[in-house]
Amino acid sequence: MKLYADTANINDIKRLNELGIIDGVTTNPSLVAKEGRDYNEVIKEICKIVNGPVSAEVLSITTKEMVLDGIAYSKLHKNVVVKIPMTAEGLKATKELNGKGIKVNTTLIFTPLQALLAAKAGAAYVSPFIGRLDDISQDGMQIIQDIVEIFQNYEITTEIIVASVRNPLHIRDAAIIGADICTCPPNVLEQIIKHPLTDIGLKKFLEDWEKSRK
Ligand code: G3P
Repeated sequence: MKLYADTANINDIKRLNELGIIDGVTTNPSLVAKEGRDYNEVIKEICKIVNGPVSAEVLSITTKEMVLDGIAYSKLHKNVVVKIPMTAEGLKATKELNGKGIKVNTTLIFTPLQALLAAKAGAAYVSPFIGRLDDISQDGMQIIQDIVEIFQNYEITTEIIVASVRNPLHIRDAAIIGADICTCPPNVLEQIIKHPLTDIGLKKFLEDWEKSRK
């Protein structure tokens, strides 16, 4: 499973990229707003650091504006993927952008059928938000399972980006189900590096080695 960093923070992206575990980056307006920077500048900087798809979300709601925003984003770097919200206007924009050879990541997906529609409109990626479903007591991971099955049934090549990830169990379950990609907040990715038994084991190895040399 590919792992993306779900952040617009340059320091976090650099740190994770150095670990060699990052295949791409996703951003959204809330994440970029937190950084207090220009959206385009942030995307250009991320593309210089990470060699993989970088999602930039449109800040408009009509098809016409979304297409224009998408074309502008696509000119920033060859790795830019345009994030479009899952609405009727968004589906039309997806069809148009796909026709121009621009990759779309359909965002704000909360049901398997929304994912199917996005794929039919030509989305290269769909982003179901599992944490936000869990937050309202619906099983977020179940929709990942359903989308994987539906896409397999019809040999749909649209990639599934598990989004709105809150904890390591989300990442584990997404991998077991066979999702293509999991986009994770940096703190959650860094959590999965560690295990107390790794630290204890390493300490013991080094102590035993030192003892043997006395
Ligand atoms: O970028 C989409 C996403 O992963 C949102 O996560 O935590 O705001 O629900 P969250």
